Amino acid sequence: MKRPGCWKMLAVAVCMVLLAGLQAQDLQGHVSVILLGATGDLAKKYLWQGLFQLYLDEVGKGYSFSFHGAALTSTKQGQEFVAKVLESLSCPEDVAPERCAELRGRFQQRSQYRRLRTSEDYMALSKDIEAQLQHEGLREAGRIFYFSVPPFAYADIARSINSSCRPGPGAWLRVVLEKPFGHDRLSAQQLATELRSFFQEEEMYRVDHYLGKQAVAQILPFRDQNRKALDGLWNRHHVERVEIIMKETVDAEGRTGFYEEYGVIRDVLQNHLTEILTLVAMELPYNVSSSEAVLRHKLQAFQALRGLHKDSAVLGQYQAYSGQVRREQQKPDSFHSLTPTFAGILVHMDNLRWEGVPFILMSGKALDERVGYVRILFRNQAYCAQTETRWVADQSQCLPRQIVFYIGHGELGSPAVLVSRNLFRPFLPSGSWKEVEDRPGLRLFGRPLSDFYAYSPVREQDAYSVLISHIFHGRKDSFITTENLLASWAFWTPLLDSLAHEAPRLYPGGAENGHLLDFEFTGTQLRFSQQQPEQLVPGPGSAPSPSDFQVLQSKYRDSPLISAWPEELIAKLADDIEATAMRAVRRFGEFHLALSGGSSPVPLFQQLATRHYGFPWAHTHLWLVDERCVPLRDPESNFQGLQAHLLQHIRVPYYNVHPMPVHLHQRLCAEEDQGAQMYASEISALVTNSSFDLVLLGMGTDGHTASLFPQSPAGLEGPQPVVLTRSPSKPHQRMSLSLPLINRARKVAILVMGRMKREITLLVSRVGHEPKKWPISGVLPSSGQLVWYMDYEAFLG
Ligand code: BG6
Repeated sequence: MKRPGCWKMLAVAVCMVLLAGLQAQDLQGHVSVILLGATGDLAKKYLWQGLFQLYLDEVGKGYSFSFHGAALTSTKQGQEFVAKVLESLSCPEDVAPERCAELRGRFQQRSQYRRLRTSEDYMALSKDIEAQLQHEGLREAGRIFYFSVPPFAYADIARSINSSCRPGPGAWLRVVLEKPFGHDRLSAQQLATELRSFFQEEEMYRVDHYLGKQAVAQILPFRDQNRKALDGLWNRHHVERVEIIMKETVDAEGRTGFYEEYGVIRDVLQNHLTEILTLVAMELPYNVSSSEAVLRHKLQAFQALRGLHKDSAVLGQYQAYSGQVRREQQKPDSFHSLTPTFAGILVHMDNLRWEGVPFILMSGKALDERVGYVRILFRNQAYCAQTETRWVADQSQCLPRQIVFYIGHGELGSPAVLVSRNLFRPFLPSGSWKEVEDRPGLRLFGRPLSDFYAYSPVREQDAYSVLISHIFHGRKDSFITTENLLASWAFWTPLLDSLAHEAPRLYPGGAENGHLLDFEFTGTQLRFSQQQPEQLVPGPGSAPSPSDFQVLQSKYRDSPLISAWPEELIAKLADDIEATAMRAVRRFGEFHLALSGGSSPVPLFQQLATRHYGFPWAHTHLWLVDERCVPLRDPESNFQGLQAHLLQHIRVPYYNVHPMPVHLHQRLCAEEDQGAQMYASEISALVTNSSFDLVLLGMGTDGHTASLFPQSPAGLEGPQPVVLTRSPSKPHQRMSLSLPLINRARKVAILVMGRMKREITLLVSRVGHEPKKWPISGVLPSSGQLVWYMDYEAFLG
């Protein structure tokens, strides 16, 4: 039976499809890629190969390309160099050699070298591109400028591109930048501002090549594709810790000029490891393919990072490093570098998902192996009734449960995603990931490989090839936006500043490091597991060591004085506070504690938070001795300090926490708002006789205490229990308990620490009752007890 109508329709449909195909080809247009620094190391090792891969992937899809290698090298030399590199380009394994040679030949035809120095050179390049487009009748799709040059060259090149080499209307411009992106927050900000004067944010692609590593690039898709299994697991209730590790065997020889300025934290942690951290920690966007959503969630993760302090880090330096710097940088024999080549950092996140989960970041040069991985170790909450030899990998809940994104190298030798069999069978797209065959005898993270569902990429790809493809497709989520960059520097800069003069622990390098670099953590503190190996043998007349002293008890201003080394002093004070609290709760059912702000009590708060599990917090009321007139969320606020170092780690009923009302009616400490009176009424309503069980005070170098300052009469006497005062230092406006109220307390403890307090300690020991000159001298509880707690530095100088 003939059906001419059908044939006709089919023919029309085929024609339309073909036409649409042709139009699509036409529509894709021409892309010019300009590789700046085309004769450099990175270009030779990765970038030319990445561009060839781009050509192979995209040219059949209707795009046409031209590749311009550019550098300052003379035309002849540059041409020779590029020709040699192009000869060595390789194809994926599945491309037959003849086909590969043919494709390479075509790529070579599309590639040329040119010298680019002046803005006229850039103008000439632009003209040549336009002429080529016209000659070949092509529509311009866009231009990619890949900056594989040192950052000091950025500004000039950026200016020339912006003024003379932008593509015509309707075509896009993408500029690709390589780190370092600054040295700290300020320099990163300056560089970013400079670049923003030439390029739009969406035109810039800052590379972090770790985001192109296949295992790293798989973190978000893995979380997305295994949402159901991970939903209940990816949180503080189940994750014991996260390790983000990049170990290297190489050292910094040959690069000490760069390395001296940067060190391991700036070189690796601030960028590669931090990026990975955000991928693990961020809230998973509903649509992980949306660059915009991924970047937004990443920024939110940055906001949840808890600030780092000196104790969050351990630093090391391989022994040969200083010698290498002396040789390469022509430094004198006496030169010793403080630059760390090894760092372990403990990071915490302040959000409901991750609160309390340690994230360990570690990287170093001259270590025993080259390996990179992200390991999520889950808590083990099971008890197994059978003996261990009968545990079966996919059933026993007693075996370790972990998910590892294995970035590469190490025992396994290739990127992989590993999931313990007792967790769940993961989904990975079979087109790009395949199951790894078992390798009997191979153990990873304490378990045989067979304990894991293990997947590796079907086709291993270099990070730069992956990223070049993402640049081409405009996938901005694989790159570092300005906001992202500045957020990362804002996180790292305070730590870098505080560590600038710290001497790193020396390590021999390689396997000989033994356990020297092992570290451990308690609470928020990190320290090396082994004591520094050099023993300090105290010779005659040498400085006393902590163990030479015990907690001393004597008198100061006729009141008991407890004196010790800082750690013991804090431990003693915390014990005394707990004992006072227990007594008060036994007798009255509640304990009213008024706390000062500033830096001295911070170790006390930490001690209470991490060592005093029997503290009767549920029956404790917390009051503030004084407050700065700033919003309570301001980092300067005393309440904020209390929140960061104590409140968030303990369980105090929220109605027992009494911040000072410094922020009322959207203004700060206005007399008319009567905040001081409100606080006084709250005290009088809740605290029997307005008599606190314990008031913790400090002493300033000018003799101030609470926010009662010399030469300022407010609060020294009179009927007002709570007063507004002025401090000589910023922020000037304060709210404070008055001396008379303080003196009603059952117990007052004054904590004085540090060498800076030596002079005032001496002075106040001699003066009488002169609160106008030295408010601290007015602290004299009418019927309560006063105890001084001083460390040796404050007391003995
Ligand atoms: C670079 C650092 O970003 O990463 C180098 O500057 C480091 O110091 C390198 O050696 C490691 O990258 P990869 O890809 O070899 O793991």
